[in-house]
Amino acid sequence: MGESLKGKRAFIAGVGDDQGFGWAIAKALAEEGVEILLGTWTPIVRIFTNSWLAGKFDESRKLKNGKLWEYKGLYPLDAAFDYPDDVPQSVRENKRYQEASEYTVSEVAANVKKEFGHIDFLVHSLANGPEVKKPLLETSRQGYLAALSASSYSFVSLVQHFGPVMNEGGSALTLTYMASEKAVPGYGGGMSSAKAALESDTRTMAFEAGRKYGMRINAISAGALPSRAARAIGFIANMIEYAKANAPLEDKELLAEEIGNSAVFLLSPNASAITGQTLYVDNGMHCMGVAMNSPSLKTV
Ligand SMILES: NC(=O)c1ccc[n+]([C@@H]2O[C@H](COP(=O)([O-])OP(=O)(O)OC[C@H]3O[C@@H](n4cnc5c(N)ncnc54)[C@H](O)[C@@H]3O)[C@@H](O)[C@H]2O)c1
Repeated sequence: MGESLKGKRAFIAGVGDDQGFGWAIAKALAEEGVEILLGTWTPIVRIFTNSWLAGKFDESRKLKNGKLWEYKGLYPLDAAFDYPDDVPQSVRENKRYQEASEYTVSEVAANVKKEFGHIDFLVHSLANGPEVKKPLLETSRQGYLAALSASSYSFVSLVQHFGPVMNEGGSALTLTYMASEKAVPGYGGGMSSAKAALESDTRTMAFEAGRKYGMRINAISAGALPSRAARAIGFIANMIEYAKANAPLEDKELLAEEIGNSAVFLLSPNASAITGQTLYVDNGMHCMGVAMNSPSLKTV
């Protein structure tokens, strides 16, 4: 990096194991000397911290200097809720929530402020669509709205509550997917709509939070990665194969680390004039209009 990020502080929402983009971004920031605070989905906090303590992530925690990266704080977070009163009784009584407290977005932001004062970077790397396996045409209103709530409004809420906690020149980043603008069969349940909203909100909040807090807001539209969330959708292996066969960078695996490096750039002052942007980090898959492995293109 040009300018040192040493001593900056990041809050990364959506780290629940060492497989996904949130982890890769946390590690890439830690590599630059950024202090890491994690927001982990409330029901999986225990399994994540137990795995961490048992050394299950040690191999992927290794930095270039051989040391293992650490987090300074870990906050249970359910980004589908903004205030304590929003949490339904059924969730409160769920056994995976019972032990936890203060996991709504407003409470987490208040606790981060109380314990650390300010942050410099905010990362939203989370999504959830309970009906993701259903085609949009078969998605219920409830499923559709749940996808929008957990996957899009959660970013609005994080920026709302962390905006006042941001240091001057801070920036935020979210993760989106090409299904926001092109039909991707199998990515259902309103998740494509949620990603479209997320990209639109990135632009609108770039303006609003730019004026209000002087912060920048960007999105990375990432190519397919076999994260836990993506594996739950069910066809991720096919999407990866498809991208390898058809992307401009042929047969190249997309590494989470590559999204981590791009995230560091977008968050850092090296991108000081970039805001409201959705940057594709997908081996170029988004720019293809036809599938090169189609039998009808055999002679091209
Ligand atoms: N994997 C892909 O192919 C791909 C491609 C493009 C974009 N993305 C996006 O990247 C982001 C990160 O996903 P990932 O694929 O790295 O998977 P991941 O499983 O590592 O991350 C998703 C995280 O969201 C958390 N989460 C779910 N609901 C939550 C809630 N209500 N509150 C707080 N946390 C919650 C999960 O616990 C999980 O840790 C998502 O927005 C996803 O849509 C993924």
